[in-house]
Amino acid sequence: MLHAIRFKDGKATYVSRYVQTSRYLQEHAYQASQFFKYGDLLGSFGLFAYYLHLLRGELGELVMSYGFANADTGLIYHNGMLMALQDFDKPYVIKVLENGDLQTLGINSYNNKLTSNFTPHAKKDPETGELFTFGSSIKAPYTIYNVVSKDGIMGDPVSITTSGPSYMHDFGITENYVIFMDLPFNFDPENMVTRNDWIYRFDTTKKSRFGVLPRYSKNEEGIKWFEFDEPFYIFHNANAWEDGEGNAILISCVMKREVEHIGHHMSFIPPMFYSASTPGLKGTQLEFPQLFKFTFNMKTGKCYQEQLSTSFVDYPKVNESHLGRKTRYIYTSKFDKLSSKIPSIVKFDLEGQGAKSLESKLDYGGNTYGSEVVFVPSVQTDRPLEEDDGYLLSFAHDEHTDLSYAYVISAQKMETVAVIKLPSRVPYGFHATYMTEREIQGQISNLA
Ligand SMILES: [Fe+2]
Repeated sequence: MLHAIRFKDGKATYVSRYVQTSRYLQEHAYQASQFFKYGDLLGSFGLFAYYLHLLRGELGELVMSYGFANADTGLIYHNGMLMALQDFDKPYVIKVLENGDLQTLGINSYNNKLTSNFTPHAKKDPETGELFTFGSSIKAPYTIYNVVSKDGIMGDPVSITTSGPSYMHDFGITENYVIFMDLPFNFDPENMVTRNDWIYRFDTTKKSRFGVLPRYSKNEEGIKWFEFDEPFYIFHNANAWEDGEGNAILISCVMKREVEHIGHHMSFIPPMFYSASTPGLKGTQLEFPQLFKFTFNMKTGKCYQEQLSTSFVDYPKVNESHLGRKTRYIYTSKFDKLSSKIPSIVKFDLEGQGAKSLESKLDYGGNTYGSEVVFVPSVQTDRPLEEDDGYLLSFAHDEHTDLSYAYVISAQKMETVAVIKLPSRVPYGFHATYMTEREIQGQISNLA
């Protein structure tokens, strides 16, 4: 389900709508859940549910040919289309209507050029207008890379060879490169039975690799792989850039191997992945994420990592008009380790001196917890904007009063500017985006 707020003429209009995916329409017809949820793919029951699901697809009881994900993970606007995204599906195009309502237009297959899945973390280059994306698969080739022109023309796919069916959820772009992650968090159905764990397994025997490829490559020949001996995992990257000294830089929220693994301790897997009945993902052995900087020297082939935060943060965002270029500020959601909820927003100043000036924090306060923030630049055009001249928008929920709110926060001051009470609950979610008025007016009305 998408939750949206339209700000116009001093008023805010809230709406929530299901994306009309193939999965949603089938389940709506059944009036019941039919497809598996990733959080339920746990233990021997999870394995049974997974294979039963595949069997029902084989028998034609469930239609899989249009994908079976729920477009619930990420959003991006490009070339007149707001697209709702999930790792293992194609984009669903959503139209934002004048009154703020949301209408599903259908699947965007890029005139049948898109043969793979489409990451929820596609990157739009702010200067060229191109869209960079990849698709992950549990079958080889595990990663397919695509570039979409400013006008929405998708180029030929490039296969990227990774070590196996690792879950690559995000990547990075710089002005000249694209950075892939081949990390040891693998699709492994047997893990549900052999370890009574999840369908994805953090394999602590494997290394962590990053592949840096010139971004207009026609094949993967020019890729340079950088390897770290230790296993770790990354859902999200904040940004990437080149530093002018031959290095590609990547800023990421890194989940290291948990040092002390206690039986029922919940390792960091975002709570939206599992259902209320899930007893705990006991075998994942991943610590909560912290902010790190990776340096990949394109001349020497050497790589380094540097820890930037001690607090547990994820859902990193930057001013996206600087995407692929050096950014000073990163906005993150801070996780509480006991509850896996988000009590605070943390702004990092990468040019800050000392630990105190590096981070500034805004607490929602009380029993209120948030979701990902988006950075919206100020619209004053009579002067050059500072990188952090803008607002952070987020949804939050007060668990004491059971009321949900939209927050508007000054990104420079890290102070709340407005809090809007919403008429219904907004659950904690994954990712968010914003559209300008010009983009709303520039949307397509129908899919070709
Ligand atoms: Fe994500």
